[in-house]
Amino acid sequence: MTTASAPGKIILFGEHAVVYGRPAIAVPVREVIATAEITDINQTTHGQIHIEAPEIKLDKWLHELDPDHPLAKIVHLTLHAIGSPKFPPLRLRITSTIPVSSGLGSGTAVSIAVVRALSTHLGQPLPLQRQSALAFEVEKIHHGTPSGIDNSVVTYDQPIYFVQGEEPEILQSETPFTLIIGDTGQTSPTTVAVNQVRQAWQENPPKYEAAFEAIGQIASQARRCIMEGRIHELGPLMNQNQTLLEDIGVSSPELRVLIETACTAGASGAKLSGAGLGGNMIAVVDPDDTDRVEIALREAGAVRTLRTEVST
Ligand code: MEV
Repeated sequence: MTTASAPGKIILFGEHAVVYGRPAIAVPVREVIATAEITDINQTTHGQIHIEAPEIKLDKWLHELDPDHPLAKIVHLTLHAIGSPKFPPLRLRITSTIPVSSGLGSGTAVSIAVVRALSTHLGQPLPLQRQSALAFEVEKIHHGTPSGIDNSVVTYDQPIYFVQGEEPEILQSETPFTLIIGDTGQTSPTTVAVNQVRQAWQENPPKYEAAFEAIGQIASQARRCIMEGRIHELGPLMNQNQTLLEDIGVSSPELRVLIETACTAGASGAKLSGAGLGGNMIAVVDPDDTDRVEIALREAGAVRTLRTEVST
């Protein structure tokens, strides 16, 4: 049996603008993971790989899935990448503790876990860069124009500074910091928010380009703050980023409530994270204030809170 996993992620700064060529920062969230487990099955059956994903009630042979189904796609891509070898019938079992459609990278983490488990089980583990590239192909199904930041941060499992089309830069920092993640409980597929922003950008390019530019500058400033250990400056930068995300129309009343609640309870800054229109918000919090902020978020309606430490 071969087991592999991949973490969740959040975007610290720069979502949406990153799709338009600006820099962004993302960090792994190791408190939630997707796991893929491959076992040889001792039976001769039609089809070669049996896929089980209990959380989405999937229990099918690979050939029964539409080739564009994200799981079928990542399995086919992986097999192709390792030269389509012959293999005995296999069972692929996928489980995940990452909430779906909420900005935490669940689909991406499943793709990476599958690539890792399958290629390793068949004796040809793939390098990180290749794993990321395969997951990127599946991201295109989730939304047509992914920047590549999600597959990069999940694959490298490190904080990254990312510009589309370039190798991600692993962010080195001597000073760890704590984030609280609060879930509005409203699922929000990335594709809906990304398409909404694209349409609005096409209707008013000057407004959107200016917002993307300002967001990109915030991400660059945040990169320097993280590298130089000026963590106290991250909160205000988050608040500025959130104002710009409001301006481009991807916040929501529920996100706003959680963001305001976190700041009132002592967070030094907060913003939505990921595509927006629901999903999760994040807050940068002094370690002494984490309990207070988490309790306040739950009382204000967060269906789940997570605490993660960002370090390299
Ligand atoms: C999604 O995690 C981040 C977005 O910027 C989309 C992308 O970069 O592909 C909204």
